[in-house]
Amino acid sequence: MVLFFSGTGNTRLVAEELAKKLDDTTFNLLDCIRNKDYSEIHSEKPFIFCVPIYVSEIPKFIERYFKNVPLTGSDIIYGIFTNGGYSGIAGVQLKRVFRAKGMRYKGYAEFKFPSNHLTNKGHKDISDEEIAARIIASMKKTESVAKVIRTGQEFKSRHIWLIELIATVPVAPILMHFTQKTDMFYAKDSCIACGKCEKLCPDRVIKMVDGRPTWNKSHCTHCMSCIQNCPREAIEFGTVTEGKRRYSLSRYKDVLENSENNLEETSRKDTYEEDFINIDLCSVSCIGGMRENGARTNG
Ligand SMILES: Cc1cc2nc3c(=O)[nH]c(=O)nc-3n(C[C@H](O)[C@H](O)[C@H](O)COP(=O)(O)O)c2cc1C
Ligand code: SF4
Ligand code: SF4
Repeated sequence: MVLFFSGTGNTRLVAEELAKKLDDTTFNLLDCIRNKDYSEIHSEKPFIFCVPIYVSEIPKFIERYFKNVPLTGSDIIYGIFTNGGYSGIAGVQLKRVFRAKGMRYKGYAEFKFPSNHLTNKGHKDISDEEIAARIIASMKKTESVAKVIRTGQEFKSRHIWLIELIATVPVAPILMHFTQKTDMFYAKDSCIACGKCEKLCPDRVIKMVDGRPTWNKSHCTHCMSCIQNCPREAIEFGTVTEGKRRYSLSRYKDVLENSENNLEETSRKDTYEEDFINIDLCSVSCIGGMRENGARTNG
C-alpha cells in the first residue's frame, strides 16, 4: 500500500505513479492526520510511505502519525521523500520510528521537485523550464524506484553523516519555532469564502469566520497547502509572499501530459538554487556517521 501526505501535489504524484507501476493502491493520510485517526492499516504488500521534507526532517505531524498507527500484514517499509534537493536526516528518523515498531525498514528514495516553501524569505521563483525538468526527471525516476520495490531489494540510500544530525536535531525545532508562526497569514479581499484552505489544513488551525479564514493557533507546520492551493491566490504571509508565484503540481498538468516527449531533453538540465538553509555537509570529510539504510486493507 502506498500511503502519502502531500501539501502541493509533488508527493501525491510520486505516490500515484508508484502505485500504478506496482499495481498497488494509494491511501491519502490527510484525513487521518487531521482527525488524529490512528486506526489500524493492513496491507499484504510492503508499506510505502511517501512524504515531503520540511526543514531537513519528516513533517512533525507525520512522525507522530507513524509512531501511533498500527500496521498489520506486511512488515516491510519503504520511505519515499520529495524535496527541493536535500532530505537531511529524514531517513534516520524513518528508520528509528519503524524499527521501534519491529518492522523491516528498506531505506528511502528521494525525488527532487520544485520547492513549495513560499513563506521562506529566501524562496526564489524558478523558471517553468526548470519546474518541468524536475517533474519529468522525477516521473522517470519512479521506474527504477518501483523496480527496487517490486524485486524486494533495499534502496541504496545516501549516507547520513553524524554532523548532519548534530546540525539538525537541536536547530530544526528552534528554526521552526521562530519561522512557522501563523500571525502573518491573512486573506485578501479576493477571497471567495470557498473554505478550501480550512479543509486542507493538516494542523486544523484554519477556521472560517464570517466568510474569511482565520488562523487560530500561534504556530502551524507551514505545509503551504493553504497558501499554494487557494483558487484565488488570496492568502499572503505578511509581505514575504507578495508577488511570488504560487506553485502546485496540478498547474503543470500539461507537463505531465507531454512528459513522454520532452523527458530526454529537460531531465538533463539541473540548475537548482536551494531556497532553504543549505548545509552542504556531504562535502565535509567524514567526521563520523550513521549507516543509513539501513483496519484499512489492501491485498
Ligand atoms: C516548511 C517547509 C520546509 C522545507 N524544507 C525543505 C528542506 O529542508 N529540504 C528540501 O529539499 N526541501 C524542503 N522543502 C520543500 C519541499 O520538501 C518540497 O517542495 C516537497 O516536494 C513538497 O511536497 P508536496 O508538494 O507533496 O507538499 C520544504 C518545504 C516546506 C513547506
Ligand atoms: S481557499 Fe482562498 S478563496 Fe477559499 S476560503 Fe481560503 S482564502 Fe478564501
Ligand atoms: S495553516 Fe496553512 S501552512 Fe499552516 S499547516 Fe495549515 S494549511 Fe499548512
